[in-house]
Amino acid sequence: MSAILPPADRLWYKHPIDRVEGTWIAIALIWCIILFVMMTGWHVWGKQNLSTETYRTTSAQFMEKTQAMVDKYTVRTETAENIPVVAPPPGSDVYLLARLWSYWPILELEKDKTYRLHLTAIDYNHGFSLQPANINIQMVPGFEHVVTVTPNEAGTYSLVCNEYCGLGHHRMVSRLYVK
Ligand code: CUA
Repeated sequence: MSAILPPADRLWYKHPIDRVEGTWIAIALIWCIILFVMMTGWHVWGKQNLSTETYRTTSAQFMEKTQAMVDKYTVRTETAENIPVVAPPPGSDVYLLARLWSYWPILELEKDKTYRLHLTAIDYNHGFSLQPANINIQMVPGFEHVVTVTPNEAGTYSLVCNEYCGLGHHRMVSRLYVK
């Protein structure tokens, strides 16, 4: 019989399951359960899986907190749009917002110091993809993601939006300094 023809016995699904097939289904199921349990394990042992906290916020509330930080700790401006570069004190809460099609402000953090990084999107969904650290967080309007970060390597990191957000998506990039 070829695969083009209908099965001779049309109630094929009522046949008893083959031993080999059953074994593979059992193995696949057990593996799925192991991977599912490991999702929680990676938050303890996986160095790149950040445990984020999430709070409700509004654009106005978040803008206010970000503006307060920018007013206090701006050290210079960069890019053609004069985006402020902010160097907040170690241990403090730092804010970064995404909107069509830029990030604001640019953060300058100190190596081996811990910060509470607050992220949100003001208008639509955006992404926070930090390279080459391979950190990837969705920035969702109305929600504030808080990540406790301790940068362990100095350098200039690239920040890329990886959630499609319209016409300017491809040029929605920024940077993050660690000194
Ligand atoms: Cu913002 Cu894509």
